[in-house]
Amino acid sequence: MKITLIGTGYVGLVTGACFAEVGHHVLCVDNDREKISTLKSGRIPIYEPGLEDLVKNNVAAGRLAFSDSTQHGVEHGDVIFIAVPTPPQADGSVDLTYIEAVAREIAQCLRPGQYRVIVDKSTVPVKTGEKVAETIKRYCSKGCEFDVVSNPEFLREGCAVADLMQPDRIVIGSRSQRATDIMKAIYEPFHAPIYTTDINSAELIKHAANSFLALKISYINAIAAICEAAGANVDEVADGMGADKRIGRAFLNAGLGYGGSCFPKDIKAFIHISEELGVPFNLLKEVEKINSGQLDRFLQKIKNKLWVLKNKTLGVLGLAFKCDTDDVRCSVSIELCQRLLNEGALLRVTDPRALAKARAVLGEVNVTYCENPADVFEKVEAVILATEWKQFRNLPWRDLKDKMIAPIVFDGRNLLDYKSLRDMGYDYIGVGRP
Ligand code: UGA
Repeated sequence: MKITLIGTGYVGLVTGACFAEVGHHVLCVDNDREKISTLKSGRIPIYEPGLEDLVKNNVAAGRLAFSDSTQHGVEHGDVIFIAVPTPPQADGSVDLTYIEAVAREIAQCLRPGQYRVIVDKSTVPVKTGEKVAETIKRYCSKGCEFDVVSNPEFLREGCAVADLMQPDRIVIGSRSQRATDIMKAIYEPFHAPIYTTDINSAELIKHAANSFLALKISYINAIAAICEAAGANVDEVADGMGADKRIGRAFLNAGLGYGGSCFPKDIKAFIHISEELGVPFNLLKEVEKINSGQLDRFLQKIKNKLWVLKNKTLGVLGLAFKCDTDDVRCSVSIELCQRLLNEGALLRVTDPRALAKARAVLGEVNVTYCENPADVFEKVEAVILATEWKQFRNLPWRDLKDKMIAPIVFDGRNLLDYKSLRDMGYDYIGVGRP
């Protein structure tokens, strides 16, 4: 099938590459000319495992191309996916400026007698589909035929390609059988269960799913605080709870809380949406409160142990908002660094992928960027693990201890084997661990 994606961020680019991989003919459009020329020259602006090869192979096979022209996109694709950012506004509501602008542009490019399915893939408030349809109708020429569909995306950064190629489910919100059939044909090669719904329900599924996952994280973080007070172990509690199929073990990892470009924004948006609908979802306010409290509590533990932080050198392992990505947007680790710097601490930091992006945010003052994680341990008063990169578990901890002023480890992601670290002589402090 001929498909266009408008917006080549995480969602647009990975989705486009995966559609091409299963044989569709894909054009990825973005109004950022620099980004398009980067992509055309074979470079990928983000780090996502497997993406570079996927893009290269499909460009070479002639199934994936890039353009900065919406006109070109509307001519190419029988189906046009909108995958542009929906950033938060100060009051927590979603800024739909980009969605509206793209809907208008698509409308102006539609031609009579040329049926198009316009699909919203961005995370949007319920009822956005209705607005998109109204907008397109208002701005298109007479006789243009189109349908609007909601098809939310559930990929996670760091495993986006795998999530897209083997999805748990596909959600298609549509009120036109013709559009639904076309969407089913696009997803047929992915062999995933398809849920067809009305447009509003599809939009709600996305916010409801992300909010539930954030709720799970805050739930286990609240349990972690109780474990600390009671001298119990949150990992064991999570394993025991998670073994119940109705609960499930996934997303029950206690730590510094959730960050990234999705959960913090989506939870805020859903609270706002529920209030606008007159049915305030107050539970989510508590989810947010627990989440922001995680960093406060963790910093307090650092201060309790090290007392005054001013002029003390601390090591930080991990800067990305999660492992396997170079994304530092709303990274709890970056916020942790900023708060330590505000206290007057000096930092030695590392990250397998996010060093350059972190440098752009944290700057040069009082921060030493280390390519080699071992260099982080050089004459530091403590090391803080802030992002759950698996490779930090396998560092030569026994040898690294001798580089430190004092062998203290704060594990903000409960990643490390605390028993063996303690055997080595480390003072280990985790989250909800004894
Ligand atoms: C999230 C959802 O998981 C995706 O399904 C969704 O498509 C995406 O948002 C989106 O809306 O676009 P993502 O933000 O990429 O994906 O990453 P997650 O793996 O969900 O992690 C989010 C945050 O939660 C990270 O900071 C991570 O460290 C934290 N987390 C995750 C925990 O603290 N504990 C856990 O058990 C799991």
